[in-house]
Amino acid sequence: MASRVAVVGAGPCGLAQMHAFEQARAQGADVPEIVCFEKQSDWGGLWNYTWRTGLDQHGEPVHGSMYRYLWSNGPKECLEFADYAFDEHFGQPIPSFPPREVLYDYITGRAKKSNVRQFIQFNTAVRWISYDQNTETFAVTVENLDDRTTRTEEFDYVVIGTGHFSTPNMPSYDGFEQFPGRIMHSHDVRDSREFAGKDLLVVGGSYSAEDIALQARKYGAYSVTISYRSKPMGFPWPEGVSEVPQISHVDGNVAHFIDGTSRKVDAIVMCTGYQHSLGFIADELRLRTSNVLYTENLYKGVFWLDNPKMIYLGMQDQYYTFTMFDAQAFYARDYILGRITLPSREERAADIAEWRTRLDTCADPIEEIDFQADYMADLNREVDYPSYDLDLTRQHFRAWEHHKEETITGYRDKSFSSPCTGTAAPVHHTPWWTELDDSMATFLDNRA
Ligand SMILES: Cc1cc2nc3c(=O)[nH]c(=O)nc-3n(C[C@H](O)[C@H](O)[C@H](O)COP(=O)(O)OP(=O)(O)OC[C@H]3O[C@@H](n4cnc5c(N)ncnc54)[C@H](O)[C@@H]3O)c2cc1C
Ligand SMILES: NC(=O)c1ccc[n+]([C@@H]2O[C@H](COP(=O)([O-])OP(=O)(O)OC[C@H]3O[C@@H](n4cnc5c(N)ncnc54)[C@H](OP(=O)(O)O)[C@@H]3O)[C@@H](O)[C@H]2O)c1
Repeated sequence: MASRVAVVGAGPCGLAQMHAFEQARAQGADVPEIVCFEKQSDWGGLWNYTWRTGLDQHGEPVHGSMYRYLWSNGPKECLEFADYAFDEHFGQPIPSFPPREVLYDYITGRAKKSNVRQFIQFNTAVRWISYDQNTETFAVTVENLDDRTTRTEEFDYVVIGTGHFSTPNMPSYDGFEQFPGRIMHSHDVRDSREFAGKDLLVVGGSYSAEDIALQARKYGAYSVTISYRSKPMGFPWPEGVSEVPQISHVDGNVAHFIDGTSRKVDAIVMCTGYQHSLGFIADELRLRTSNVLYTENLYKGVFWLDNPKMIYLGMQDQYYTFTMFDAQAFYARDYILGRITLPSREERAADIAEWRTRLDTCADPIEEIDFQADYMADLNREVDYPSYDLDLTRQHFRAWEHHKEETITGYRDKSFSSPCTGTAAPVHHTPWWTELDDSMATFLDNRA
């Protein structure tokens, strides 16, 4: 059995991995030594809000991409830990779309219960990971950011949980050099009140574009224009928010679009997605992918094809999040514990190809959600993660898609039922569109 496992990152994925091992230990398993390296000073990954942008106090790129007033954009019931229900954590039913602070409290609540903080070395950045074919071990070089010392340790397995929504994809358009206002990526947005009274241009056609456009308007932007590249999101936008096609060029403070229209804008937020940034991993072990639901080279979405002891969690695009990370972490744990044996390289490659062929046939988000749910079911079938009603979450996601088409400012006011406990979520006391306070205290205040 393995003696040492390195976990890189103490965000939801890294925490899920350590939790999975602790569950096994509680049932008597002989668990290997776990060492988690986390470059931030606290756990929670993206959910650990920071006001910082650019470089942090150590000169490291800031990991955080979350901003103030960020609320869950999917029903919490679709990400509920099957072994740590919302009811258990909060002791009362809570509405379906919590703000960031509430979800942070929930994620870290489970991590506290399973006592995994003891395994984490904070302020420690992983700088290089390589594999030695002779010793069949990984060399993991880390830097202690407090005292700036570097050391290399040997591990039998490596689990990468570094996320992939922190390194901006930042395109440019003609005329940006001369634009007289602020041009920033959504990664650097912290407080949308900075756009109050302004005409804002948001570039992108996905979740960040949708959410930042809405919240800029909610917190006082005079107008928000969303410029899409492929297709409009097409939601029933509130007054003051509209969609236009791709930018052709920018002339002074006037943005021109490929349909010949133009708008004067004061600031531009590029909601143009993120890059997987895994430059600390040796070439032959490094995942290279865009943001897709099933990547190349990862068997079961997790194991590096050419060396399954190199394990990646959460590297896919995500409809499902925390429950998908759990499925992956439990499966990876059971492989490391010797409970699951992987098939030959050829069979693993064929399995990846099969999933990717199916992905190509997905025509819309509903089919993509089913795809990801089937992927999770495939993992869950072989591990002892507690059962929950995954099919109910598919239905919830379908309803959620429908609600968004009906009312993009009101979909967060809907309620869903728990796939773990059956609890029906109460309706939040204040409609999301008029609720300016995202504090946990206000959210949990169950006044009628
Ligand atoms: C703006 C935004 C909003 C989102 N909103 C939602 C939402 O409402 N609901 C939802 O379910 N999901 C949401 N997500 C998706 C999010 O990806 C997941 O919820 C989750 O945070 C992913 O967990 P992770 O552990 O994979 O990565 P992360 O949360 O990114 O954590 C990775 C950790 O690894 C650490 N790390 C990185 N590199 C190194 C290194 N070299 N050495 C040491 N440590 C390192 C980082 O410091 C970080 O702590 C959102 C994402 C974004 C960008
Ligand atoms: N809780 C919340 O409310 C919330 C808020 C924000 C984000 N999130 C999460 O954050 C994650 C990342 O979402 P994201 O929207 O940042 O990334 P994303 O889903 O990967 O989308 C990237 C977008 O950028 C566009 N794009 C890329 N290059 C472009 C270019 N050159 N010009 C114009 N557009 C370009 C893409 O357009 P094409 O469609 O043409 O490819 C796509 O629409 C998701 O998991 C999401 O759920 C959650």
